[in-house]
Amino acid sequence: MARRILVTGGAGFIGSNFVHYLVRETDCIVTVLDKFTYAGNAASLDGLPADRVSVVHGDVCDADLVDQLVGRNDAVVHYAAESHNDNSLHDPRPFLDTNIVGTYTLLEAVRRHETRYHHISTDEVYGDLELDDPTRFTETTPYAPSSPYSSSKASSDMLVRAWVRSFDVRATISNCSNNYGPRQHVEKFIPRQITNILVGDRPKLYGAGLNVRDWIHADDHSSAVLRILEAGRIGETYLIGADGEENNKEVLELILTTMGKPSDEYDHVVDRPGHDLRYAIDWTKLRTELGWQPSFQDFEHGISATIEWYRANVAWWEPQKRATEARYREQGQ
Ligand code: NAD
Ligand code: DAU
Repeated sequence: MARRILVTGGAGFIGSNFVHYLVRETDCIVTVLDKFTYAGNAASLDGLPADRVSVVHGDVCDADLVDQLVGRNDAVVHYAAESHNDNSLHDPRPFLDTNIVGTYTLLEAVRRHETRYHHISTDEVYGDLELDDPTRFTETTPYAPSSPYSSSKASSDMLVRAWVRSFDVRATISNCSNNYGPRQHVEKFIPRQITNILVGDRPKLYGAGLNVRDWIHADDHSSAVLRILEAGRIGETYLIGADGEENNKEVLELILTTMGKPSDEYDHVVDRPGHDLRYAIDWTKLRTELGWQPSFQDFEHGISATIEWYRANVAWWEPQKRATEARYREQGQ
């Protein structure tokens, strides 16, 4: 197991959950590299031991900084990204810079230093499925991304594959489905609805809400990534999921009833252009090859715990809420 791990994007939602997970479950030393965009939050790393976790404020596109940090670590786990589809539809440029050039910059550094690299990606690179399609995404599903976000992530995956083949970089890739849990930015579906209810606004459902997402708890994503880092085969891609398919309307109704509200107390708003219909992950390879299993299999319980986290941590999300909703209002969402 790597002793010193560089985690890019460690002040974001999934990256910070991974850093907390590493501190709980391993004895490794973590360096976080994060640009602290609107999505990075220093408070997400509060309470972590200073002798185990250090934080560097910087950009994954900064080649000199990245080279120095990679040189001091045994492994890199690359979470940093522009991550929100809606933002990518209004201003794609930062997605190309961070997601593509940032990945290129890290790949060149791990190539020079011969450092183990794990690339965090998304199931959205595979496009979407029909609601009644009996198949799910596997590691051999052809890439067919729909949005500027997912196409920039697909591009980054292709760079990783090319650097493995052309330069023998020791890399693995994982493509995970939709995460939920603590410390997710309020722009995303589940925290947006929970915090709307907490501030007295009505939740907002895009279109008819029949789109399906395959939900996994962020801690299960972390345990899968750690397993791949420890035992994954170099050059391989692993899909991460937990059989959590739900449509958006059902998820919203669950949030409303769990929070003691009538299940129809929400607004339908304008749909996302090009909105992917359904994602579904077949994670057989991760199970059979690496023996991984998810721990959070009760979605209702996971949603209740997530609601409780947002209730108990108003100071964490309140500063972002007003600006986020102002941006959505401009877009009619
Ligand atoms: P997030 O938006 O919550 O966090 C992204 C973090 O990256 C932030 O801390 C931000 O400050 C940092 N960052 C952005 N640009 C940077 C740059 N140029 N240099 C350094 N740091 C930068 O994102 P998230 O939802 O936690 O997603 C993390 C990763 O997981 C992404 O690569 C995303 O594609 C992938 N992913 C997300 C999900 C999901 O459901 N959210 C599912 C599968 C994969
Ligand atoms: O599948 C993995 C992906 O999941 C990650 O790669 C992305 O980084 C992550 O943001 C997420 O993408 P989605 O676009 O699926 O997530 P989002 O939370 O934005 O939306 C989830 C669903 O809810 C989607 O069908 C759109 C819908 N939605 C979203 C918002 C913000 C609404 O109905 N209302 C809303 O207010």
